[in-house]
Amino acid sequence: MTMRAIAVTGAILMTLSLATPAAAEGDAAAGEKLYNKCRACHVLAEGKRRVGPSLFGLFERKAGAFPGFAHSDDLVAAGEVINPWNEDNFKQYIVAPNEYIGSVIGKDKARTKMVFPGLKNEKEAEDILAYLKPYFLGEKEGK
Ligand code: HEC
Repeated sequence: MTMRAIAVTGAILMTLSLATPAAAEGDAAAGEKLYNKCRACHVLAEGKRRVGPSLFGLFERKAGAFPGFAHSDDLVAAGEVINPWNEDNFKQYIVAPNEYIGSVIGKDKARTKMVFPGLKNEKEAEDILAYLKPYFLGEKEGK
């Protein structure tokens, strides 16, 4: 390679690395499909419930604090730490619900009333978060 070719290649590589976003952004369209796994039990309408509590405004409350819902003791206890729900604790919870709640409250076999084993991996967690975030923030209401 000539010196000029090396300089040009270097400039291109630098531009590429600058264009790469620092954090991975989830894919909201993929997240909407993943949310189908939650629909049987959750709604996105304010104050409503199904098998589980509404996920509308989730980021404005602590864990296990949906008004009038008979939450598990373990989720309520986790509310001492998960206060409020945010991107970080939600992503950890949704890939391993019982394990994560157990780690938060220091209990080997924590059991919440959510009979759902969790999403597959961090990528799925990022994707569903990208879709659900406006609802979690209470900016958008759904059914
Ligand atoms: C089989 C029913 C069921 C499915 C499927 C389900 N959940 Fe749940 N979920 C529940 C129940 C019941 C609770 C309340 C748990 C408790 O109080 O112990 C809950 C609790 C939660 C909480 C904590 C709410 C709070 O106010 O602290 C979040 C967040 C959550 N679910 C998200 C999801 C997401 C996202 C999905 C889909 C990927 C999902 N759930 C799938 C039944 C379900």
